[in-house]
Amino acid sequence: MSKLAETVKKHVDIIKRKDQGELTPREIVRELDRYIIGQDNAKKSVAIALRNRWRRQNVSDEIRDEILPNNIILIGPTGVGKTEIARRLARLAAAPFVKVEASKFTEVGYVGRDVDSMVRDITDLAVTMVKSEKTAEVQDKARVMAEERILDILIPPPKRTGFRQQQQDNDEQLQKAEEDHQSTREKFRERLRAGKLDERVIEVDVPSDASPMMQVFGPVGVEEMGMNLQDIFGNLMPKKYKKRKMSVNEAKEVLAQEEAQKLIDHDAAIREAIERVENTGIIFIDEIDKVAGEKGKGSGPDVSREGVQRDLLPIVEGSTVQTKYGMVKTDHILFIASGAFHSSKPSDLIPELQGRFPIRVELRSLGEDDFVQILTVPQNALIKQYTALLKTENIDIAFTDSGIREIARIATQVNEQVENIGARRLHTILTTLLEEILFDAPDVISDKKVTIDDTMVKEKLSIIVTDRDLSRYIL
Ligand SMILES: Nc1ncnc2c1ncn2[C@@H]1O[C@H](COP(=O)(O)OP(=O)(O)OP(=O)(O)O)[C@@H](O)[C@H]1O
Ligand SMILES: [Mg+2]
Repeated sequence: MSKLAETVKKHVDIIKRKDQGELTPREIVRELDRYIIGQDNAKKSVAIALRNRWRRQNVSDEIRDEILPNNIILIGPTGVGKTEIARRLARLAAAPFVKVEASKFTEVGYVGRDVDSMVRDITDLAVTMVKSEKTAEVQDKARVMAEERILDILIPPPKRTGFRQQQQDNDEQLQKAEEDHQSTREKFRERLRAGKLDERVIEVDVPSDASPMMQVFGPVGVEEMGMNLQDIFGNLMPKKYKKRKMSVNEAKEVLAQEEAQKLIDHDAAIREAIERVENTGIIFIDEIDKVAGEKGKGSGPDVSREGVQRDLLPIVEGSTVQTKYGMVKTDHILFIASGAFHSSKPSDLIPELQGRFPIRVELRSLGEDDFVQILTVPQNALIKQYTALLKTENIDIAFTDSGIREIARIATQVNEQVENIGARRLHTILTTLLEEILFDAPDVISDKKVTIDDTMVKEKLSIIVTDRDLSRYIL
């Protein structure tokens, strides 16, 4: 096999196994490497945690339920890739993923979101995810059915008024009409498929949105209890339809969607979604340090912080949460917590919760060399983003190595002097650097090649960087 063919095959293979959530830890790290620079320890830990879930799926039944997920705490300053790692991991695993902020929760009985809501959120998400997959599966069939419905509207089938007494001669007429109709229909089908009828406006019956009455009567907070009046009563009511005018082109989409909904088994989809949440769900709890009260501080907000931890505990330990789709067990959901832990330490968390997050990984703060790479290497690297954006205005923007190095150097410097916000600094610096070009294109500059080298970077940014007050506000 040629080298190229081999690489291609390997890549296809990875994509295929990625879809099935079967990547090995090393492959997971390699995939994460495409988006995140450095932070090898964190990548390694999450890769192991993810693979362990696959391993768990494959052990014998008796022991499977005993195996607990390796919940992880990512510790590190702001803007070093904690959220990014979790997000990319979830995408790799094609797993339902939600991110919540621990500080948004408050103790039971206080105003704020209750902790159960994160399980409801991830379940909602999984249901949407599974349903859209199922919809995609039946898409072809749904399109054919939509086509039939459009043809019905365009050329209504011949009326069978057939008075009994005229039945004799009518039979023949009827058959003739039927044949005519069929052949017209086929002609129309051809034109429809060729897109020749796309602009024509037709009237389509579409299900009208649930009756507004329901929403008026639904007491506030019902959703929070995990129920939804619409779901309970909605199915008992006959579906209402209303007529809407639209182009044939739009009708193709709308009707295909509707037919697809009829084709998929909603109950099965919900069951699958719940199973997916229970076995592969990832919940990312951000800012966990904000609910880690400093010990010995006694009363005040710390009490409620600890309260939040106590509320979190059953969910992380494994409990059953009522959602509008049914009960969801949280035992095997993977929890990844993260926090800067500046003024508190993981050991300030209540012991039970610490025990539930056995893996601690520290992410290091980023320096100049990291920034050079972050600017250029990841698939979503900022420089690639801006190059693509300006390309739409016919401006070819090129960063020289020295230019990139200078941006990284300034980012590091401002992080040291003002506040360390990690890689987020690159965003503010690049927007400031490119502001003029972004504003002047395409009116003043167009069809142009712009080279950004260190001289230009210095010229644009040095005044701001050397003035602490300025950089505090601008960069
Ligand atoms: N190591 C890295 N490699 C590539 N990009 C990074 C890295 N670290 C941070 N970034 C980029 O910086 C931005 C912020 O990163 P992220 O959201 O992961 O920060 P965080 O560590 O979660 O910070 P916080 O504690 O404030 O939530 C993202 O846009 C991300 O792409
Ligand atoms: Mg974050």
